[in-house]
Amino acid sequence: MTAPNSNRTSYDTAQQRSDKIWSQIETDPSGLRMLTGDRPTGALHIGHYFGSLRNRVRLQDAGVETWLIVADYQVITDREVIGDIKGSVRELLTDYLAAGIDPERSTIFSHSAVPALNQLMLPFLSLVTQPELERNPTVKTELAAAGKSAMGGLLLTYPVHQAADILFCHGNLVPVGRDQLPHIEQTRVIARRFNERYAGGEEYFPEPDALLSEAPTILGLDGEHKMSKSRGNTVMLRMDADETLKKIKKAKTDADRQITYDPEGRPEVANLLTIASQATGRAPEDIAEEIGDRGAGTLKIFTAEALNEHLAPLRARRAELEQDPGYLFQVLRAGNEKANAEAEATLAKVREFMGMVY
Ligand code: TRP
Repeated sequence: MTAPNSNRTSYDTAQQRSDKIWSQIETDPSGLRMLTGDRPTGALHIGHYFGSLRNRVRLQDAGVETWLIVADYQVITDREVIGDIKGSVRELLTDYLAAGIDPERSTIFSHSAVPALNQLMLPFLSLVTQPELERNPTVKTELAAAGKSAMGGLLLTYPVHQAADILFCHGNLVPVGRDQLPHIEQTRVIARRFNERYAGGEEYFPEPDALLSEAPTILGLDGEHKMSKSRGNTVMLRMDADETLKKIKKAKTDADRQITYDPEGRPEVANLLTIASQATGRAPEDIAEEIGDRGAGTLKIFTAEALNEHLAPLRARRAELEQDPGYLFQVLRAGNEKANAEAEATLAKVREFMGMVY
């Protein structure tokens, strides 16, 4: 999502802070606590993987303390049917662990299992105004995408809930896409106001930083939209090699047999080159040159093979994990326990600051 002009400076500042943190991660990641997560709406696709999940695993492996939230209450911000939520949570857990999130080092938990986190939303709501909530550009986009005219109460206020997700564990690093920057900015404002209004100026809540990744957005295989399962234009991590090849063979391309990397002029071909580049670690231009005038058919086979090779170990782990849903939910329950201890301690401190200890 491109930043509206009025927000340009705050996006630039976020980018600068983000660049600085990347160098801190390389030199000394201690003191960094990452909190990020996903809405459990089903299994993940390669857009999620190359865009964020792989990056989280790298941060975890670099020694950044890692907390991942399964944002189940966020599923009902923009839809009326909750669907098979448990099934979606299971798929998400499977993809996390298959991609290399290590439950020994990282904490995975869900909104609905951590009551003290949810309770933080009440004091936090007292710190924001209606116009502030109403001008959040991401919320506006989601309202429009949901095709509804009336704003739901949870859609309007979920950025405040998301502030509780981040602040309950004193997270100071939030790896997200640009569309989430308004929520991080809202979280910073809430932390600042809480510290001033209720904590007597003590810096109790840190103002977290967004960590923006270099990873490119992967478009759907129709070349027009973001990858999204509802459009059927994705390669899912859970697919096998054959399915992946079939999907990629059906991707939209153009008639020019000379393969070039031109994201503006030839978005569909560029998108396949981006996928191949992500899977191989090679530059997209370099791959385009190798394919030369052998056309989109050759590019598709190259891309599918590169992707299948890259994902093979993840898919093998995935197949094993699928056999053991009991283990997956055990991991989640252990994470919930840790998150509850943390949230209860934070809420106790918040009550103390607010004089609500009776
Ligand atoms: N809103 C995020 C998304 O849709 C998911 C999310 C929930 C999140 N809570 C969070 C991300 C806290 C970062 C931090 O992708």
